[in-house]
Amino acid sequence: MSRHLYLETMESRKEIHFAPVQGYTDSIYRNLHHSMFKGIDAYYTPFIRLEKGHEFRPRDLRDCDPSVNTVERFIPQVLGGEPGELRLALTMLREKGFQQADINLGCPFPMIARKGKGAGLLPFPEKVKALLDILGEFKDITCSLKMRLGMERPDECLALSPVLNEAPLSAVFVHARVGVQEYKGEVNLDAFERFLEGCHLPLYYNGDLKTTQDIQTIMERFPSLRGVMIGRGLLANPALAEEYLGGKSLTAGERLTRFRTFHDALLAAYAERLQGDAHLLMKMKTFWEEFMPWTDRKALKKIHKSTKMSQYHEAVLMAFTGDRAEV
Ligand SMILES: Cc1cc2nc3c(=O)[nH]c(=O)nc-3n(C[C@H](O)[C@H](O)[C@H](O)COP(=O)(O)O)c2cc1C
Repeated sequence: MSRHLYLETMESRKEIHFAPVQGYTDSIYRNLHHSMFKGIDAYYTPFIRLEKGHEFRPRDLRDCDPSVNTVERFIPQVLGGEPGELRLALTMLREKGFQQADINLGCPFPMIARKGKGAGLLPFPEKVKALLDILGEFKDITCSLKMRLGMERPDECLALSPVLNEAPLSAVFVHARVGVQEYKGEVNLDAFERFLEGCHLPLYYNGDLKTTQDIQTIMERFPSLRGVMIGRGLLANPALAEEYLGGKSLTAGERLTRFRTFHDALLAAYAERLQGDAHLLMKMKTFWEEFMPWTDRKALKKIHKSTKMSQYHEAVLMAFTGDRAEV
């Protein structure tokens, strides 16, 4: 390839980021995914939050510690809320040596949103401005923002555009739903397009990208995107980004082998970290809530009903040997 063509390709290459998903994309998951599958440009922690306004949860601190994270581009996410809390969170990250962070203005859960955090901030441009003003104190940390179209209405983001455009943000990730939808219902591509038209920052689309065709459709409809962020689609098919970039799907056999290796590595790593089979089973059952949704229903049911590791292993064997590999 000529250098000119190479540079052109690199410049136009869209990025794929692995969305943070609480309960799934912890350091074990991120590290193993990164070592076994290609195509992800950045991984994020699920949001780190402050409790009682000033304490971090020990497991959040462990999960974001640079010593346990081996992915190349790894970005901790903090929950957006009070400016003082953001200051504490960014100070903690600075002390750990981070130069990048993501701010969550998308969490829809009432316990969070009702307190004016996450998506609960979206209807209040002046509060978002006060929050982002804090970034002036952290010029050594490049921050991005992950948000939704709004909390209740998909046009709330339009009133936020001027605030975001003025803020020192490196990128904006938009989950094209409103907070009250949580993770259900349709994504709103028309509302996303209206936001895109007024957004001057590098923009990434997020929401319901499950197949390589879904990614292609979004990239084609919104050519100015810097890329996409994918959560559940990658939890279901960990090879999704690799398949998109490579322009071809894994064969059923490849998928079986690689997904099984991935599963077995996760199981071994969680067995080492978690205390007792009950915790391990719970973790693996959560994993199967999203993983390989095309799996034979009987096998999935057996996985979710297993109460002993021996039953779990039997059920997993059934899931992999009965894999019909339909994506
Ligand atoms: C169980 C669950 C936990 C999530 N946790 C986070 C989180 O900690 N931080 C965040 O920014 N988004 C979180 N999300 C939202 C995802 O990152 C993503 O925006 C959303 O699932 C839509 O994208 P998808 O359809 O590709 O999954 C979570 C989603 C789910 C379903």
